[in-house]
Amino acid sequence: MTIQWFPGHMAKARRQVTEKLKLIDIVFELVDARIPLSSRNPMIDEIIKNKPRLVLLNKADMADPKRTKEWISYFAENDIPALAIDSHAGVGMKQIVAEANLILKDKFDKMTARGIRPRAIRALIVGIPNVGKSTLINRLAKKKIAQTGDRPGVTKAQQWIKVGKELELLDTPGILWPKFEDQSVGLKLATTGAIKDTILNLQDIAVYALSFLKENYPLSLKERYQLEEIPSEIVPLFDEIGKRRGCMMPGGMTDYDKVAELVIRDIRSENLGKITFERP
Ligand code: G4P
Repeated sequence: MTIQWFPGHMAKARRQVTEKLKLIDIVFELVDARIPLSSRNPMIDEIIKNKPRLVLLNKADMADPKRTKEWISYFAENDIPALAIDSHAGVGMKQIVAEANLILKDKFDKMTARGIRPRAIRALIVGIPNVGKSTLINRLAKKKIAQTGDRPGVTKAQQWIKVGKELELLDTPGILWPKFEDQSVGLKLATTGAIKDTILNLQDIAVYALSFLKENYPLSLKERYQLEEIPSEIVPLFDEIGKRRGCMMPGGMTDYDKVAELVIRDIRSENLGKITFERP
């Protein structure tokens, strides 16, 4: 579902996250490993302030492993611990608990020294829609807690989900908005499927995606569409793909909408391989 983010909704979302921050020790900030910057909330630092944080690069199974490593180093250089995970398959789940323990070690050691009985770490998952928050909660809970998809406006009592003995999660994640006033951010979100029933034009998205692939993943493009050479201009590239994939209109014209749809579907279903659309 696409959420319409009006200023009032943003303020409300922010208020809800701020309320939840009071209950927790650490924020798990979920981002899409294919677009680690574009899938972040632009005001995240301001919203969570100095609450300890662990960035989780989710959907790492779909991202370019080389770039994911670069992103983890980038976050580390900025003093933000980050992990690559795959919530769908459950890869990296143990590391989340281990890393959270490490981040909060000082705080918990101090509590113990003051005679406070050790307790589980309390965490909140935050992220923009479709980044995989519900999938991760269900994975960590080892059962279906939250329905996948977002349900704005549905309010219920907060509950804690136990993840082993060491971690407790709030059962409803914090949903935040992306930086969609930036055109290139919108195109990246649409390409990766974060915005599904998109308000952006399909051909615009495909022009962006093909231009990026041409520069950054030419071999994947060649292989997938059996191209000997990649045309330097974008329209001939559409034409070549259309010809090879039978996306033609009566009279032999390329059906550009069909080509656009095909390319976007191929990217989202990994038919072009593991692709990351942003570099640190
Ligand atoms: P949200 O709560 O943040 O809005 O996201 P949600 O968990 O609903 O996940 C959005 C989509 O992303 C879902 O796919 C989900 O399966 C997929 N997803 C989540 N984490 C991962 C991951 O680590 N790797 C991969 N490859 N996919 C992931 P969907 O097509 O909307 O639904 P479905 O096919 O799971 O039914």
